[in-house]
Amino acid sequence: MKILLVGSGGREHAIALKLKASSIPVELFAAPGSDAIAGLGVCLPLGVEDLPGLTAWCLEQRPDLVVIGPEVPLVAGLADVLRAQGLSVFGHDAATARLEGSKAFAKAFMQRHGIPCAASDTYTNLAEAEAAIQAWTYGFPIVLKADGLAAGKGVVLAVSRDEALDTVRAFMGGQFGDASRTVVLEEPLVGMELSLHVLVDIDREHARYAILPPCQDHKRIFEGDQGPNTGGMGAFGPIPYLSPEDLERLRTDLVEPTVRGCQKDGMVARGVFFLGVMWTANGPELLEYNVRFGDPETQVLMQLLDEDLPTLLMEVAIGGLDRESLRIKEGCAITVVLAAEDYPEGAKKGVAISLKDTDLTVIHAGTRLQDGHWLTNGGRVLNLVTHAPDLATARKQIAAGLASISWPGMQVRKDIGLKALTHAQAGKTVRDAW
Ligand code: AMP
Ligand code: GLY
Repeated sequence: MKILLVGSGGREHAIALKLKASSIPVELFAAPGSDAIAGLGVCLPLGVEDLPGLTAWCLEQRPDLVVIGPEVPLVAGLADVLRAQGLSVFGHDAATARLEGSKAFAKAFMQRHGIPCAASDTYTNLAEAEAAIQAWTYGFPIVLKADGLAAGKGVVLAVSRDEALDTVRAFMGGQFGDASRTVVLEEPLVGMELSLHVLVDIDREHARYAILPPCQDHKRIFEGDQGPNTGGMGAFGPIPYLSPEDLERLRTDLVEPTVRGCQKDGMVARGVFFLGVMWTANGPELLEYNVRFGDPETQVLMQLLDEDLPTLLMEVAIGGLDRESLRIKEGCAITVVLAAEDYPEGAKKGVAISLKDTDLTVIHAGTRLQDGHWLTNGGRVLNLVTHAPDLATARKQIAAGLASISWPGMQVRKDIGLKALTHAQAGKTVRDAW
């Protein structure tokens, strides 16, 4: 099977490894890919936003399947253009990708279809938004969301009215260009956050989906969930204290109404929905939709998934997903992100990485190969990934594996999964204080 994978990060390296692990011979191309992905296929000098270049390559090469990793090309309509040429694409059309591309659109969708979520209002006028902040009664922090894509920086949890006012002025003043001229003000939700991925194959005639194991990401840079937010410093899954009844609740409260809502609204969906969920005192509530796989959640999911990935993604791409449940390996998977010095404010690039042999899977997120040596080349540099019978063992394997990787200034959280493990070992459930 000839496959074009669009993207270049850790998520795409993990997907590339799983595609190549298939029993079907896979001829892999990546745009733009990375030096690590180049070990698995051919990297093309085409950026993820180069719609004309990607389309021209596809028209000439006719891949059997195109897998689109990041949200930016999905929101820009890459899947639409390629589908119009008769290609099979795993990834949503622009109309569906708006669920991630516009927070205001997503909130209106949630409200229209009765999906539990934080109370919110959308503003396009600064004076009205300022008045709403002055009259705010939902408590703190005030959650402010830039409507459009802002590279993960468009959500601010303001601890005071003054901070909220400063933020809304910056947003509407064009901090993220047009993406932040519309702002959603949202009630703060308190609880345990989780990432729920669902493969979806929806059109007017049918609505099929398959849920992947819930994962938990760790967004803050420092241990104990301290310091600024990052793209994610580590993840694990499944979550040990979620019961089968809890999983059923996620399905009935969040997944079912999402899938039915898409169908009612006439959306076509051929890809993945990644639901950002907060399990509150009232049960699970939806924080946001993403229309792509999470990073680093994908690194965990690719370990757990016991399916032939090219076949599965092809089924979704052609509107032929024909199973409600997926084969999932027993046990638990975990990934720990090794980040560059200065991340998340910046990223010190070009630092030589010492990488010794290890039994664990090493995923490259931001590296570059020079004269046979790996150098740091991004904020999140490497991911160490493992699978074990349980979370405690997986954590021990990671701790041992960490001895094989280092560079000056490397940042790593050694507490990935620890809070959940302690919670589970104390016999607590998702309804206990987190
Ligand atoms: P989002 O991009 O919507 O996922 O927001 C980024 C992060 O902000 C989420 O992962 C949550 O940790 C946090 N967040 C978003 N919305 C809320 C909310 N209503 N209440 C509390 N935290 C939130
Ligand atoms: N790990 C969170 C994200 O991919 O958005």
